[in-house]
Amino acid sequence: MKIKNVYALYFSPTSSSKKGALSIAHSLASQWGAKVHEVDITILNKKVQPETFCAEDMVVFGAPVYSGRLYRGAAQRLAEFSAENTPCVVTVTYGNRHYDDALLEMYELAKKQGFVPFAAAALVAQHTFGDIQKGRPNERDLKENREFALGAAKELIAGKKVLEQVPGNTPYKEGGGGGSFIPQTKDTCIACGLCAEVCPQQAVDAENGYAVDASRCISCFACIKYCPVHAKCMETPEYLAFAEKFSKQLAQRRENEYFV
Ligand SMILES: Cc1cc2nc3c(=O)[nH]c(=O)nc-3n(C[C@H](O)[C@H](O)[C@H](O)COP(=O)(O)O)c2cc1C
Ligand code: SF4
Ligand code: SF4
Repeated sequence: MKIKNVYALYFSPTSSSKKGALSIAHSLASQWGAKVHEVDITILNKKVQPETFCAEDMVVFGAPVYSGRLYRGAAQRLAEFSAENTPCVVTVTYGNRHYDDALLEMYELAKKQGFVPFAAAALVAQHTFGDIQKGRPNERDLKENREFALGAAKELIAGKKVLEQVPGNTPYKEGGGGGSFIPQTKDTCIACGLCAEVCPQQAVDAENGYAVDASRCISCFACIKYCPVHAKCMETPEYLAFAEKFSKQLAQRRENEYFV
């Protein structure tokens, strides 16, 4: 088989899913001397190319787990892509609690759109909330991803075509919506506009002191992560109490899981 282009196609507000998908895409591409491309579907209504893929392409999908499911907006955006027997790797990234039905959901969605999943991964990252597995995915995680990708490529070259199953249950559990923590904006804001730029939901109002529109916000915390002066924050007593308890509950390290 000949693969000319490998695409990392991801929804990733705080970049963990992106890191995972890209590390796998680069390793796969090295096996065929293929080019790596990024298709970033994080920002609502932003047009991306290509929308269809052929059998000489390969796609690595990446998206976060929100309440045990694929984040709904990511699933909607992923459903806009189609393929003609394009081999793919499905990955979901989660914050050390669990991925529940999200990997199965992505696997089934990819198949429905005409992709052929030949490998899958549930990858651990720092959780959006609290202080859980800080710094992950780290070098060790990325090395594991690369080794997984090389093994999966070998199997594909040897003739194995389809990954028959991944963990998860149907009907999928309830989930996939955003959270209810709405970031605040401190007076130290320097009006740089970065939070509005990185917000996947266009929920930051530049005309109103960069305040967050609660009706659009999904609590992805991209605005908090990327604010250069820490003016975007989540410091209500309710959140701080939740974050402390949650961090203790999820302190024990989980490992990445790979399926070939
Ligand atoms: C609203 C919301 C719900 C989440 N639900 C889960 C979950 O069910 N299980 C889990 O382990 N992590 C959960 N997380 C954590 C994210 O999956 C994790 O931080 C992920 O790395 C974020 O991906 P990104 O960096 O690509 O944006 C949730 C995060 C948010 C914002
Ligand atoms: S405003 Fe809400 S949706 Fe937008 S980046 Fe911040 S947390 Fe995410
Ligand atoms: S990123 Fe921070 S400093 Fe820049 S506009 Fe947003 S809140 Fe203000």
